[in-house]
Amino acid sequence: MQVRAFIITLLFFTSNAYSQNQLIIPDTVSGPVINLTLQQGTQTFFTNPTQTLGCNGPLLGPTILLNQGDQVSMMVNNQLPDTTTIHWHGMHVSAENDGGPHTTIPPGTTWNPAFTVMDKAAVYWYHPHLHMHTNEHVSKGIAGMIIVRDNDEGQLVLPRTYGLDDIPLVIQTKDFDANDQIVVMSNSDDVLMTNGTIDPYTSLPAQVVRLRLLNGSSQRVFNIGLSNNGPMYQIASDGGLLNAPYQTTRIMLAPGERAEILLNLTGMAGQNIQLKSYASELPNGIYGATNPGMMPGMVMTGYNPNPMNGTNFDILDINIINATANAITTIPATLVSVVPLNPANSNITRNLTFSPVQPGPNQLNGQFWINNTSFNMNVINYSVPIDNTEIWELFNQSAISHPFHIHDVQFYILSRNGVAPALNEAGRKDVVLVRPQETVRFIARFEDFHNDTVPYMYHCHMLTHEDGGMMGQFVVTNPLGLNEGDVNGTLMVYPSPSSGYFKIQANDRFVIDRVEMYSIEGRLHAEFTGNGTSQLFVEGAPDGFYILRIFSGDKVLVRKVLVE
Ligand code: C2O
Ligand code: CU
Ligand code: CU
Repeated sequence: MQVRAFIITLLFFTSNAYSQNQLIIPDTVSGPVINLTLQQGTQTFFTNPTQTLGCNGPLLGPTILLNQGDQVSMMVNNQLPDTTTIHWHGMHVSAENDGGPHTTIPPGTTWNPAFTVMDKAAVYWYHPHLHMHTNEHVSKGIAGMIIVRDNDEGQLVLPRTYGLDDIPLVIQTKDFDANDQIVVMSNSDDVLMTNGTIDPYTSLPAQVVRLRLLNGSSQRVFNIGLSNNGPMYQIASDGGLLNAPYQTTRIMLAPGERAEILLNLTGMAGQNIQLKSYASELPNGIYGATNPGMMPGMVMTGYNPNPMNGTNFDILDINIINATANAITTIPATLVSVVPLNPANSNITRNLTFSPVQPGPNQLNGQFWINNTSFNMNVINYSVPIDNTEIWELFNQSAISHPFHIHDVQFYILSRNGVAPALNEAGRKDVVLVRPQETVRFIARFEDFHNDTVPYMYHCHMLTHEDGGMMGQFVVTNPLGLNEGDVNGTLMVYPSPSSGYFKIQANDRFVIDRVEMYSIEGRLHAEFTGNGTSQLFVEGAPDGFYILRIFSGDKVLVRKVLVE
């Protein structure tokens, strides 16, 4: 935190008259080939030029406009002096195209993923995802919005003139040092910027307007509301439109989350309102509240003093001007039909527990674990058979809320501490904020893409936590594909058919770490580890064919066996 920023921020808190920079609206890019150049830049926010990173410019990146069904080729040219990656957050693409930490783009090279847009109309985003450097690259400025449109959305009467009645808002907080440089891995983020604009104001027409909110902050949770406490109508969650607009006066938005809202400004020309974060209302145990830990005494280095913590502040100052021609003036009654997955169709429940590496009152300064392990680039934490429908049960055994994110899928929240979620959380999601001591269950289906070697990630979207190891990875596999990784004569499985056990005999270069046994429908039936891997006891398994996936280091061999 720097003193000047602190004073500016204080002024900004005490008077809306200090909302003094016109909101930047990012350019758009679209079409079958999208060129994204990652580059260094400088931008003057205060006195000294700030060193920044950006995409097609010095800071942030253009909004990518896509239509469902489009074939798109991304040309990501890395002009940075560092290796990085670009991930399409929330989009359903193959693991090779997903831009996770394994898919690096060395300096001076171009990464060219190409895919069909399968997603529903909603807001997605792109950002770097380099192992242990996500926060650095995002904090310094690389992030951009992706807007997907589809036919269902196109049939609704909704504002969709970009920059006029359909406004992208990338909301972030950053910390600047005394030389006006961005500080990475800081808990002292006291400068808010919306689309890279500090103290932003904009004009919006006196009609229904659509705000596309993205929390692109490294850590901070916002509690979005209007200065007049007027109604906001949430129409979309992370990965799609809701059944119907959800009327509310507050929307909590954690890092990585998106929400589309409609405001009805009809008849309000000449008025001035602010989009705010009512952080004073955030309960303890959330980054952004007065106390980031659930107990008031828990320390977090650098967190206080900070005029944003536990205080209400502006995100955007809005001057309402005359309506445009053909203005939309009513909020639609219904939107699309959201069909959540049925828990009765789930193949497996996976349990993930979040805990501090060092429990106790100082835990907020340390790292966090998922199931008592830290992220390891060389360990695949889960192997998910293609077309599995899975329930993931997240239990937060730590003192701070974690925004959990998973790649590849959109999920449906089944419950929070056993209770069905609010309607604005009942649609498609890819980030969920899990509060201290809370259990969140969601359901997702892993379809279309499988790859035995390139994993997808799941992690906390507080980037300090993610970079500190609060991440894991899974591969989506095709257990029915019998030829993958097969090496003749490496291993024998016998007898088959069998009713009691299978023996696995491998040569001494193939040391078996683990065996997974799937039914022919791809349902995980059993897992064998340790001493149990050379002789698999299968009494009681229903008759039929099974697929054994036999793991040794980075190799997987697949065998089909019969139980009868
Ligand atoms: Cu927004 Cu794994 O990322
Ligand atoms: Cu993601
Ligand atoms: Cu976390």
